[in-house]
Amino acid sequence: MSVAMPEYHFCELRQDDIDRVLKIEQQVYAHPWTRGNFADSLNAGHEICGLCDAQQDLLGYFLAMTILDEVHLLNLAVAAERQGQGLARMLMDQLCAYAREQKATSILLEVRVRNTRAIQVYQHYGFAEIGRRKAYYPAEENTREDAIVMRMTL
Ligand SMILES: CC(C)(COP(=O)(O)OP(=O)(O)OC[C@H]1O[C@@H](n2cnc3c(N)ncnc32)[C@H](O)[C@@H]1OP(=O)(O)O)[C@@H](O)C(=O)NCCC(=O)NCCS
Repeated sequence: MSVAMPEYHFCELRQDDIDRVLKIEQQVYAHPWTRGNFADSLNAGHEICGLCDAQQDLLGYFLAMTILDEVHLLNLAVAAERQGQGLARMLMDQLCAYAREQKATSILLEVRVRNTRAIQVYQHYGFAEIGRRKAYYPAEENTREDAIVMRMTL
């Protein structure tokens, strides 16, 4: 008799999952976080949540940090070959559930001004621009790129 497995599930990621996370990170970002960035984030107690399929393959993840009544989304990524299937939306739903558990009243994030796909996903989810940070991100050929700061009230 076969038992039906849920197609996706969330899992808490640990130090020994960093290789799996880096595989996606380096695939989808021109300026990826380093192993040290992820290790520091884990050591700091940030929330690192993975989305896996029934075979335990990692499909995406988010990292978030709680400061008082605000949750800050630090990173969100979906494996390149699994994008456009609603997985970011599933991760955002899980982020909202985490933020509510933390009794947060809003979620904040920064996104590159040129990351139109991510901006669109966030806008459709209910985030709105509340400001800009000049030259916040490193960009190609030693230039810098502005960040849009977005917030969603819970
Ligand atoms: C930005 C990113 C996380 C979006 O991931 P994604 O999984 O492709 O996003 P989703 O598919 O969940 O996007 C949701 C969209 O898919 C649609 N969708 C939902 N279910 C779907 C399905 N079964 N099939 C196709 N589309 C679907 C939703 O309607 C939604 O559309 P909308 O954006 O018009 O509202 C992804 O492109 C990525 O990892 N980019 C690189 C890293 C990055 O830039 N991260 C953000 C840093 S701030």
